[in-house]
Amino acid sequence: MIKPDAFKDGHSGGILKMIEEAGFKIVALKATQLSAAVAGKFYAVHQERPFYNDLCNYMSSGPIIAAILEKDNAVADFRKLIGATNPADAEEGTIRKKYAKSIEANAVHGSDSDENAAIEGSFFFSEFERVQ
Ligand code: CMP
Repeated sequence: MIKPDAFKDGHSGGILKMIEEAGFKIVALKATQLSAAVAGKFYAVHQERPFYNDLCNYMSSGPIIAAILEKDNAVADFRKLIGATNPADAEEGTIRKKYAKSIEANAVHGSDSDENAAIEGSFFFSEFERVQ
């Protein structure tokens, strides 16, 4: 997902370029805006965390881009490409180093396991919205 700050600041194209240049194939893509309730469902695993409400408000504050990406070893390689959650810790050459503003407005989200990638992909896209 490209988060509201990066979308609003016009970085979607730059981020998608970094993703494609890193060898990921885009198999589904859409711009949309989440309600706070839908953002809450997406981030339900974090509902006990102190930042949960702020995160849901932030993620519903403007449009986002959702995408499904394919690549060998996609989850681990995408996490490497996006960099650390806190941009202060993100390495040079990562998306968050280049585009993130804070731990919350950190430009992008990536799934943390193959299982969650399948769940999160189905959250945004039907079978017919994906390149087969
Ligand atoms: P993301 O990869 O989208 O997964 C959960 C998000 O919670 C995370 O990126 C951050 O943007 C956000 N977040 C806000 N505060 C924190 C925090 N203190 N620790 C971890 N994640 C946080």
